[in-house]
Amino acid sequence: MSTLSSSALRHAAGGARTGASAVLSARRFAGRLVRARQVDFWMRELVDPAWSLDTLRARVVDVVPETHDVRTFVLAPNRLWPGHHPGQFVPVSVEIDGARVTRCYSISSAPGDARVTITVKRVPGGRVSTWMHERVRPGDVLTLGRPAGDFVLNPSVRRKLLFVGGGSGVTPLVSMLRDLDRRDAVHDVVFVHAARSARDVIFARELDALAKEHPGLRVVYALDDDPRAGRLDSDALRRAVPDLASRDAMMCGPLGMMSALTPTWTEAGLAHRLKTERFVGAPRPLVPARAPAGKVSLVLAGRTVEADGGATLLEQLEAAGERPESGCRMGICNTCVCRKRAGVVENVVTGELSTEPDEDIRLCVSRARTNLELAL
Ligand SMILES: Cc1cc2nc3c(=O)[nH]c(=O)nc-3n(C[C@H](O)[C@H](O)[C@H](O)COP(=O)(O)OP(=O)(O)OC[C@H]3O[C@@H](n4cnc5c(N)ncnc54)[C@H](O)[C@@H]3O)c2cc1C
Ligand code: FES
Repeated sequence: MSTLSSSALRHAAGGARTGASAVLSARRFAGRLVRARQVDFWMRELVDPAWSLDTLRARVVDVVPETHDVRTFVLAPNRLWPGHHPGQFVPVSVEIDGARVTRCYSISSAPGDARVTITVKRVPGGRVSTWMHERVRPGDVLTLGRPAGDFVLNPSVRRKLLFVGGGSGVTPLVSMLRDLDRRDAVHDVVFVHAARSARDVIFARELDALAKEHPGLRVVYALDDDPRAGRLDSDALRRAVPDLASRDAMMCGPLGMMSALTPTWTEAGLAHRLKTERFVGAPRPLVPARAPAGKVSLVLAGRTVEADGGATLLEQLEAAGERPESGCRMGICNTCVCRKRAGVVENVVTGELSTEPDEDIRLCVSRARTNLELAL
């Protein structure tokens, strides 16, 4: 009969104790989790529907029509709201047909305002913007991500500024202007607002009022249907803002407008004076694949997906029926960040490779170069 030595016995007893205490800790942790969920549930039921111990949520307190297809949603976020810098966006998640869908919206209010606002244009056929317009009412609760983005002004620098906004692209710029107004810092700002027609101009009344109040603010409306001016192009912009070269410019608008206007700065060697933000842009592989990766396996927590190395991981996973979270789908918002346990991915925008294990990658701008193991 085999016997255990006393040290082996001690080790076995220690192991049993370690095992028992691990089970105990797991139980305590699970207990705390359940209690936290219960607290969340009852606080939401009884006190505030946006209450949460750990999730950023906001109650919709008002919905304000701005134009025929744009509405501002006035939000009262819960105590987890960290504040924002003017120009930043917030990921907004809603549940549509049982699936959580996330989109980013620039915050149109200024930091320090009593309420946080987002201003949403209804995109024909768009899932979230249509849902927001048709379904969201005061009293509803939206789930938010943390405000993010680097399309922000350096608040301490006093410079001549040029804001160029097209359509709903004016929202981050309006947040910046409101912030300058609050801080009494509207020293020398030209605000060019491009829109299809007068009925598409967002915030016109407020912009006009601010221009009256601040001699340092000039607002220029560029309407596509204006027979004298037509669609805003480089020449029209230079005519409207003759001292453009001496201004720091922030531009946000439809892709067509941005492509038409960007050469105004790049061709004059002024690219460093221009900062831009895009709202739209599918994650096209901008750098050609180094070599066709062919078929690859994506090992997830519960299954293995066969994919090809051409498209982005987000597209591959969605095509395979997975529903990873996503927002901007172009590498801006970080909603799709996922831990890569093993394998190599390539960033489709920069061509950069991630080769190390346990690196965070963004699914929407990554394509597989080898078989991958993902913490999904
Ligand atoms: C950083 C950031 C900030 C943003 N801020 C705002 C904001 O302040 N206000 C706002 O209204 N939107 C903003 N957007 C756009 C917003 O996130 C959504 O893309 C938009 O609301 C459409 O989503 P959807 O689900 O309705 O359409 P989807 O179902 O995603 O798309 C339907 C179709 O519409 C096209 N499409 C998507 N967006 C637009 C658009 N803006 N104009 C024209 N066609 C489009 C898509 O390419 C697709 O073909 C922002 C996006 C980003 C990345
Ligand atoms: S979905 Fe926004 S970074 Fe990927």
